[in-house]
Amino acid sequence: MKTIQTDRIVIVGAGLAALYAALKLAPRPVVVISPECLGEGASSAWAQGGVAAAMNVNDSAQSHAADTIKAGDGTVDPVVANLVTQEARTHILDLTALGTPFDRAENGDYVMSREAAHSFARVVRVKGDQAGAEIMGALIEKVRKTPSIQILEGTMARDLEVTGGQVTGIAIQSSDDLCSAPVMLRGSAVLLAGGGSGGLYAVTTNPPRIRGQVIGMAARAGATIADPEFVQFHPTAMNVGEDPAPLATEALRGEGAILINNQGERFMQALHPDAELAPRDVVARAIFAQSQAGQRPMLDTRDVLGETIKTDYPAVAEACARNGIDPAMMPIPVAAAAHYHMGGIETGTDGRASLGNLWVCGEASSTGLHGANRLASNGLLEALVYARICAESIAAVVPDGTAPEINITFEDGGAPPDPDAVTELRQTMTTFVGVVRDANGLKTALRKIAELETTFGASVSFLNMTATATLIAASALTREESRGAHERSDFPDIFPGDGQRSRLTLNDAMTI
Ligand code: SIN
Repeated sequence: MKTIQTDRIVIVGAGLAALYAALKLAPRPVVVISPECLGEGASSAWAQGGVAAAMNVNDSAQSHAADTIKAGDGTVDPVVANLVTQEARTHILDLTALGTPFDRAENGDYVMSREAAHSFARVVRVKGDQAGAEIMGALIEKVRKTPSIQILEGTMARDLEVTGGQVTGIAIQSSDDLCSAPVMLRGSAVLLAGGGSGGLYAVTTNPPRIRGQVIGMAARAGATIADPEFVQFHPTAMNVGEDPAPLATEALRGEGAILINNQGERFMQALHPDAELAPRDVVARAIFAQSQAGQRPMLDTRDVLGETIKTDYPAVAEACARNGIDPAMMPIPVAAAAHYHMGGIETGTDGRASLGNLWVCGEASSTGLHGANRLASNGLLEALVYARICAESIAAVVPDGTAPEINITFEDGGAPPDPDAVTELRQTMTTFVGVVRDANGLKTALRKIAELETTFGASVSFLNMTATATLIAASALTREESRGAHERSDFPDIFPGDGQRSRLTLNDAMTI
């Protein structure tokens, strides 16, 4: 394999965690492996709600941490919850200084949205539902002007090289058609920030390339994976036949939008005292049950927002318009969709993975913040805090210096994933490893994933997907309880007391 030696730190991914880490590492030289042009294809840019942060004088980081721990259903690490929530304010001020135009009141206060399971209106937002796009826009502008950051657009990571338990290199290929032969990059450190796994499911809110490849790549190299069974389903993805499904942000329910079915019944009131603002896993299960019963769940914003949704929530309004829905006149059909992976590559409070010379931040990591059910808008916050942590941890061991830009030309020779196999994998995950699971379905999923792997395993990119799928299904089979987003119809109760986190390698998962 062609090999390139560089003194640059290799950052995999180009979302919020990756770019914020690149900026925090400056002037240390980094190279960013970005499958698309910057700003396209990263989940962060699609985030609507915003960033959770106790900015109001009457709110506190302690209250934010308490809500995070409660939502996570007994599996949140309180040390991590306190660490992350205490830093939230600093990063909001930092993003503001970088040019993010957060919504502000006339007196200069940040406008805060209310989202489910927060005891306070605590989510900073931009132009209603534009937080992800605007934060990313501000970061990209800064990144493009930072000489230490080289961006390799159109490239994708596929393999970690490990020698004696240390990551020594990373094989990348052209992302255009995944037909190129890999090139081994040997840099001074590797930081994985390449997103989660939502696209392993047929119904997802995640961008098309986010299919668990980074978690799978680390797992194939032997890294420990934590809590892979905890996959969060968003209750209000728009059910309009688009793949990915457009999101109707939870902030709409924070404004008072209600959930109804085709009988006009407001079904959440009977299920939870907080009704539409119950924890996300509770609402997702209710939506799923309505869909299964053929009762077409819908989000009704008519009374509370009327025509203002079109100006105040432009991303939702645009997706509605594209699909012939006037939300001022009719409710929006919704479905539960894979949205966020709480599990991922196990990451310590210094951002390190179980393999040497490997750091992880963002959705690919599992830090212990989210437990079994992530509190709304804690995803971007975790990405910011752990990008800072990883940057400092890497800077402590990688010497300062400069490095020339890398030049890469790719040659033919890779095997792209078979599109039909990917479709079958995604359908298998939605059918058998979705919102509600049971042992028979999970065993069926594991068998089907193994068959697909045997037949289509010539594509390394596909193997990265099946590795993550195997970890999710195997860990879900092992956890014989229902906790947070992990619902087992054959084990409906929760184990008493606090829950143990799951920790396993791919080898462990293959023997389950
Ligand atoms: C949303 O805007 O509903 C999503 C927020 C999140 O996933 O944290």
